[in-house]
Amino acid sequence: MVYQIYPRSFQDTGGDGVGDLPGIEHRLDYLAWLGVDAVWVSPFYRSPMADFGYDVSDYCDVDPLFGTLADADRLIAAVHERGMRLLVDWVPNHTSDQHPWFVDSRSSQDSPRRGWYHWRDGRGAGPPNNWRAAFGGRAWTLDERTGQWYLHLFLPQQPDLNWSNPDVVSAMHEVLRFWLDRGVDGFRIDVVHCIGKDPAFPDQPAELGAIDRVGIQHEPLTHELIRGFRRLVDGYPGDRTTVGEVQLGNLADLGAFYGSGDELHMVFNFLPLHAPWTSAAWSDMATRIERDLPAGAWPTWVLSNHDIPRVRTRLGGEAAARSAALLLLTLRGTPFIYQGDELGLADAIVPEARRVDPGGRDGCRAPIPWDAGPGHGWPGREPWLPWPPDADTRNVESETRDPGSMLHLYRRLLAARRRSPALRRGDLSLRPAGGEVLAFERRAAADRRLVLVNFGDQPADVRLDGDWTIEIATAEDDDPSRLPPNGGLLLRPATTPAAASR
Ligand code: NOJ
Repeated sequence: MVYQIYPRSFQDTGGDGVGDLPGIEHRLDYLAWLGVDAVWVSPFYRSPMADFGYDVSDYCDVDPLFGTLADADRLIAAVHERGMRLLVDWVPNHTSDQHPWFVDSRSSQDSPRRGWYHWRDGRGAGPPNNWRAAFGGRAWTLDERTGQWYLHLFLPQQPDLNWSNPDVVSAMHEVLRFWLDRGVDGFRIDVVHCIGKDPAFPDQPAELGAIDRVGIQHEPLTHELIRGFRRLVDGYPGDRTTVGEVQLGNLADLGAFYGSGDELHMVFNFLPLHAPWTSAAWSDMATRIERDLPAGAWPTWVLSNHDIPRVRTRLGGEAAARSAALLLLTLRGTPFIYQGDELGLADAIVPEARRVDPGGRDGCRAPIPWDAGPGHGWPGREPWLPWPPDADTRNVESETRDPGSMLHLYRRLLAARRRSPALRRGDLSLRPAGGEVLAFERRAAADRRLVLVNFGDQPADVRLDGDWTIEIATAEDDDPSRLPPNGGLLLRPATTPAAASR
């Protein structure tokens, strides 16, 4: 499993109210105790922070807000010392408009780096085409001085790189090498499906409406480029890996990014972020992931991240959030846990005066409360965003002391996963259960587990084939054939000798 750290909100050590790399290092023992295999850290590079780090002005340095390169080196070593892996976030589609490459590119139509970005003449007084940007408005901005428009699928401060230019490819390969040479275990790759562009820049067909380009952009060039990243990463010793963010709705498109085992190692499966809490929706997702990804493609599961309201907020209640955790950690594939979901955090209520994100995503980015004290383990200034609800009780220290907490549920599930080959890498088959109950079995040779989740708000009786015993229950429960409302069970064959785990 991979644990996502959003560094601004994880742990501050400098006292400025913004988390930093030494803060992550300080909390690594917590992550090891939880059972984390790998950590993905959202961008900590130099950035003017128009998109809170996803606008990079130097890919090979750490923003002073987060620390120094020496801090990054120390963090990599400290993660490895605890037997964990570290993935960094790589943002290849766009740079910051303050990146020296773009500053140079926009300086004149004759700049040697003009071709590193997408510059076009307008159509009359208007932009080169009708594309819309992700945070609203058009995807082109006119540069008055040089009289041309540049493309940005996100903010105007995030100009898109031109990946058909070989100099861009080699400069960005250098960035990958820079971090691989420092010892990182791989990359989470930001909106990687967007990097290839059709140089003709055709208008988006009217029938697609005014939706932004990010959910549509998909060119063959992207796949060729990704094969290049894969060769580079695989050329390094050890098990380095890549996981790509592909914001395309259909699974066939998503599957294409695995290539024939020669593109991304993993692609985010964001289906659960938009799924209603019903057995039909979750059974449909599990079926489609098993059926529609190409053979050999290793799935992923995601409940939350820094771009979307947290699972707890979306589902409303504790019971459903607990069962969602059970699903996340028992469906087939690599689970990604967003920091704080293991505490059952809900989004912060952010008053208008404190809202800072151009994409309206502040709530899910609230700081992690480490203890029940007034500063919740953050020294100095109040954090950059308000605390999530109930931080006095929903914090690491309080939940560590409470064996019934969400935190202990996550920890038990992760331990169960570690000791069961069936859960880690076994097949998955759905079992008929009826009503609002979803049931599936995981199996690897003789190792078997059964997962039951009741999505309904009434207790549900289940008829079990065979003799099963409870390994983990999301609620107080000792009857494997009766599920509480929104409750879930992980069962193992009654004959399996296993360490007591409840
Ligand atoms: C996806 C990232 O997750 C999001 O936070 C960011 O705003 C966009 N890509 C642009 O980089």
